[in-house]
Amino acid sequence: MSFELPTKNVPLKEKPNKFSKINKVVAIMSGKGGVGKSSVTALAAVALRDKGFNVGILDADITGPSIPKIFGLDGQRSTYSEQGIKPIETVMKGIKVISINVLLEDEEAPVIWRAPLITQTIKQFFTEVEWGELDYLLIDLPPGTGDVPLTIMQSIPLNGIIVVSSPQDLVKLIVKKSVNMSKTMRIPVLGLVENMSYFKCPETGTKYDIFGEGKVESAASEMGLELLGKLPIDPALVKLSDEGRIEEYTDNNEDFNEIFGNKIVQVMGGLK
Ligand SMILES: Nc1ncnc2c1ncn2[C@@H]1O[C@H](COP(=O)(O)OP(=O)(O)OP(=O)(O)O)[C@@H](O)[C@H]1O
Ligand SMILES: [Mg+2]
Repeated sequence: MSFELPTKNVPLKEKPNKFSKINKVVAIMSGKGGVGKSSVTALAAVALRDKGFNVGILDADITGPSIPKIFGLDGQRSTYSEQGIKPIETVMKGIKVISINVLLEDEEAPVIWRAPLITQTIKQFFTEVEWGELDYLLIDLPPGTGDVPLTIMQSIPLNGIIVVSSPQDLVKLIVKKSVNMSKTMRIPVLGLVENMSYFKCPETGTKYDIFGEGKVESAASEMGLELLGKLPIDPALVKLSDEGRIEEYTDNNEDFNEIFGNKIVQVMGGLK
């Protein structure tokens, strides 16, 4: 039995509101949960911002939003005006953020919504938010290849997708579904970020390749994926994220800029 996604009669792409000018839109995706999508989205945003670009993050994870917390925005509420919903801006670097958590009365209340309401809300995050002028809008997707990623790929004009994976999942080919989905939906996969790739001992600086050296490179190239960067397992990242200070992670972090920041900025700069 063969199965093909419908490619005819796909809905037209949504447009941002008239007070927004968004140059490029990139979604961050993963085969499964907890591999670091939100962290990578946040770090990519900070890396781009550090280079002077205007950046927004659309948190498309409605049932498990984590972007406001890692930027220390919990407790803040978005406002509305005739021009649309106003995103919250991070204090330190001025990254614009929209998330269900800055719109709900009670951010601890669970969102118990059916899929059509969730996908409608995400479309509104694109069409009814006054994003202003953005060089890049990054979309933090919920895990997997379900309804929400599908709706976003169909209805938001994406310029590309970045796939995030742990080394184990990459070797087990869990990322392949994400890559194949993007191909089916004709959205370019910009490459892969391998997260929790190795451990660097804070005392000695020794690097430990916990999952075995080289396997990831061969698995990525088998899938035709460019390896954009490897992020180490880093207790400092967890601490800063928990304290809502992820923006500080890139400051004076040469390792980060060398293995991730510069490459992400380069790839985004080459987007068509
Ligand atoms: N490189 C890393 N080193 C150490 N901890 C990390 C790293 N990347 C992410 N984490 C931690 O792992 C947890 C999961 O990360 P994150 O929320 O970014 O994943 P996710 O893929 O967005 O998860 P979900 O599927 O739930 O949305 C967080 O507590 C985060 O701080
Ligand atoms: Mg997440």
